[in-house]
Amino acid sequence: MTPDAVTQPQSLPTLDGAAAIYDPDTAEHSLRTAHTSASIAGLLNLSEQEILTVWWAAMFHDVGKLTTRVEVLHQVGPLDEADELELRAHPAVGGDLLLAVSPALAPIAAAVRAHHERWDGSGYPDGLKGDQIPLLGRIIAVASKLDSLTRPRPYGPGAMSAAGAIDELRRWSGRKFDPMIVPLVVELCNNGRVVDATGVLLSVQHLPEAVRFPQLSTLSARQWEVLSHLMRGERVRTIADKLFVSESTVRNHLSAIFERFGVHSQADLVALLSGGDEVITLKG
Ligand SMILES: [Fe+2]
Repeated sequence: MTPDAVTQPQSLPTLDGAAAIYDPDTAEHSLRTAHTSASIAGLLNLSEQEILTVWWAAMFHDVGKLTTRVEVLHQVGPLDEADELELRAHPAVGGDLLLAVSPALAPIAAAVRAHHERWDGSGYPDGLKGDQIPLLGRIIAVASKLDSLTRPRPYGPGAMSAAGAIDELRRWSGRKFDPMIVPLVVELCNNGRVVDATGVLLSVQHLPEAVRFPQLSTLSARQWEVLSHLMRGERVRTIADKLFVSESTVRNHLSAIFERFGVHSQADLVALLSGGDEVITLKG
């Protein structure tokens, strides 16, 4: 995939959809990782903006695997050196893809790039150590590992119990993982606030607006753009000018968005999403 290919107007949902089609297992893993990452961010008292950023970053953390061959992704057992190098490219590729979509996604891209860094500096792609690793990347590293351990994978080892997974995370705390974050995951597990071993999401607090408004993830890229301008208070004429489309095209997008959210006016929509306007600006 060339950078040009991902800067097309439909690129962001296409990127998400392509990742899901290419490797559905990774897409489902990403969604569960997003729930856990947002919960960890909540326990850390991060801002709503940071919770949203980590949620989206977790959703896209493995999107760079679009450039990894399926044979490599689904290989059972150790990879040879060339395949390992191919697989290890995915955090940097994912970060680059998101930056190519929009420079505004830089905070998300930074977390995606960092999700295979290790606390002791032995990770990749940049070999960052400790606090040098972006916090959101450190969160996703632990959340992703928890999910990998507790979920059966078609091409990997069977699922571990939550207790077994916690033992494993503790074993690597301070080496692979941020020692501040591992206890928070244990707390989440103990309170039944992560996906359990059978895949049931028991309960999750601190979920971002993107979860409270699942309609957001169903919008097309163009609808996202229209919505982001709308949430900044811009009028149809201005939005049409900025997007190089006709006013009637913008109105068509707006009516589709209104229908999706069950509202009848811009004011109603803004009121509905008023607590979640950061979601909109993230994708704007
Ligand atoms: Fe990854």
